[in-house]
Amino acid sequence: MSTGVIAPARRPEIKTELPGPKGKKIIEADAQFVNPAYPRPSFTLVAERARGVWVEDVDGNIFLDCNAGVAVCSTGHCHPEVVQAIQEQAAELIHICGTDYYYRHMPQLAEKLDAIVPVQSPTRTHFANSGTEAVETALKLAMHATGREKFIGFFNSFHGRTMGSLSLTSSRAAQRKGFKRQALDVVHVPYPNDFRNPFNPADCGDGGAGEGALNWIEERLFKTTTPPEEVAGIVVEAVQGEGGYVPAPQNFLEGLREICDRHGILLIVDEVQSGMGRTGKMFALDHYGVKADIVCIAKGIASGLPLGACVARADLMDWKPGAHASTFGGNPICIASALKTIELLEGGLIQNSAEVGAYLKAGLERLKQKYECIGDVRGMGLMLGVEFVENKTSLKPAPELRDRIEVACFERGLIILGAGTQTIRWSPPLVLTKENVDVALDIFDQAIAASV
Ligand SMILES: Cc1ncc(COP(=O)(O)O)c(C=O)c1O
Repeated sequence: MSTGVIAPARRPEIKTELPGPKGKKIIEADAQFVNPAYPRPSFTLVAERARGVWVEDVDGNIFLDCNAGVAVCSTGHCHPEVVQAIQEQAAELIHICGTDYYYRHMPQLAEKLDAIVPVQSPTRTHFANSGTEAVETALKLAMHATGREKFIGFFNSFHGRTMGSLSLTSSRAAQRKGFKRQALDVVHVPYPNDFRNPFNPADCGDGGAGEGALNWIEERLFKTTTPPEEVAGIVVEAVQGEGGYVPAPQNFLEGLREICDRHGILLIVDEVQSGMGRTGKMFALDHYGVKADIVCIAKGIASGLPLGACVARADLMDWKPGAHASTFGGNPICIASALKTIELLEGGLIQNSAEVGAYLKAGLERLKQKYECIGDVRGMGLMLGVEFVENKTSLKPAPELRDRIEVACFERGLIILGAGTQTIRWSPPLVLTKENVDVALDIFDQAIAASV
């Protein structure tokens, strides 16, 4: 029987085959009763408990977690202060419904967000339960505020799976297949990935992929299918997440801001994955000195409780009662967890994300020198991507190798997850230490050596 406490481990401990006997039973039951559309990776983690950066599975195996429940457990698993905040709030008020009643938590967190988001204050916040709902809110609000209905999004983006956000999402065919025409009028532009510049060099000038994307919007879209005066919003990830952990070029985000200002278009920045300290600043956009009109937040904001937020310029969010609301969104327990999470982020974890992220990146760069199959190491803070290629000359994507490495890491007790088809994302809890990094890099190195 388990003690219920994970001893402070230094290295992963794998004691059974993976999955172990108890894990196998759960996977069987899952296959029978649970939605089969969850896009689970080729390794199978059946979690039982977790603390900090360590996850124990049902069979007692202990893993070093460098994924954090897909960039969610920002303060580490079950941070004691977060647990305490949740428990105290649960004993006071679990739910009352912010659509009809008031409670202190909503204005408290909204005021805090006003102070920290990369949107010009004053702002207003709508509280939701997930990333996709935060994006839905942004889309509705942009249409409402501008009276326009077209949107511009980017290929390989991920903004969620409900019908509005799905119209933007374009990172895999499986996300769209079977759902017929997209619900919203969205046109997609190649994302300015500097490592795989999708644009004609002549359209890029000296400005690389960023300039190529801006030209595409102004010279192709605006002059053909998408008159700017009909565009409500441009929706962009400052660091493309599910698409492969690709940071936007500086000139691209600056240029989008200018285009939006020139044409009365709203700049909607999706910080669902990149926000809340993950990149070594509170928001990825803070690296660029660019302000959005609307920001979407979820994942890391409440250390694992379901909370989404759409924060907009106050003059935009002036819709009337009934226009948009949510029964559970901004639940007091989730907000208590978010307020504690932000306190911990500001109290040192953002700094840790920057410092340990730089240390991890330096280690990954060393592995890039060592291995012919690592084409690119990129990102900021603890949002780092490693792209695998057949070799450094062809730079041909190596998706099967990436998948093998993912599994080989897991078998050695390191949880990391793919993003895009050939990239591994590093999105650990922001409490990760340099000692943890040394262990993780050692396993990653072994896994690559065993997989090439
Ligand atoms: C950038 C981005 N936006 C939106 C979403 C959707 O969030 P959720 O799964 O909470 O609906 C995600 C999820 O991965 C994301 O990475």
